[in-house]
Amino acid sequence: MKLNFAETLLVNNPVRALVQRRFEGPLLGTLAGDLRGARVLEIGCGSGNGLGILARQFGAGEIWAIDIDLRQLRRARRRFQQAALSGASADMLPFRDGAFDAVFDFGVLHHVPDWRRAVSEIRRVLKPGGRFLFEEVTRAALDRPLYRAFFDHPRENRFSEAEFLTELAWRGIAPYPQMRRVCFGDIFIGAGIVIADPDIPLIHEKYRARA
Ligand SMILES: C[S@@+](CC[C@H](N)C(=O)[O-])C[C@H]1O[C@@H](n2cnc3c(N)ncnc32)[C@H](O)[C@@H]1O
Repeated sequence: MKLNFAETLLVNNPVRALVQRRFEGPLLGTLAGDLRGARVLEIGCGSGNGLGILARQFGAGEIWAIDIDLRQLRRARRRFQQAALSGASADMLPFRDGAFDAVFDFGVLHHVPDWRRAVSEIRRVLKPGGRFLFEEVTRAALDRPLYRAFFDHPRENRFSEAEFLTELAWRGIAPYPQMRRVCFGDIFIGAGIVIADPDIPLIHEKYRARA
């Protein structure tokens, strides 16, 4: 779902860029492993704040990005020429299986009506051992009057942190126990890794109990 005017202002500004660069990037850096020279994908890249982080902070070798909003892609293109950008939806990724070492989601899946399908797509395009790094917003946050008044999000079928992590685990992405919560738990930031060995049990039972 494309951003409305208020949320476009909120994300396309230098303060958001600074928070991403100074706080979210370094935090995800502790979970991302070594991505120097890696092939990475950012879903919902917006105006391209994350792309610079992937290049400069993570040292990614090949950066791909998608967004459903062509205006956002044009902004990202102006700011960051090295990335391969496409207009596509996170729930139908135009990439082959196992194409990426890492997939980044800076606040996108809570905008996607079929976010479970998007998780399954992310899993599909990750290599075994590949990592999914995310910053996401909970249903409780989206239900607050302030959010509802100013921003447009799908109303149905949003997720709590536990439901999100359960879905990752079901799809074969084992969530890391380290999770950072900000804004009183409205936003959670973490990572998961694709388990290569089908004999290693995922830890979904733990998260299932909390979902
Ligand atoms: C809250 S903004 C975040 C933008 C950027 N990641 C950032 O952190 O500044 C969400 C972005 O996701 C994009 N988006 C929404 N639904 C999408 C979908 N189904 N597939 C891909 N991108 C989507 C929007 O166009 C928007 O650019």
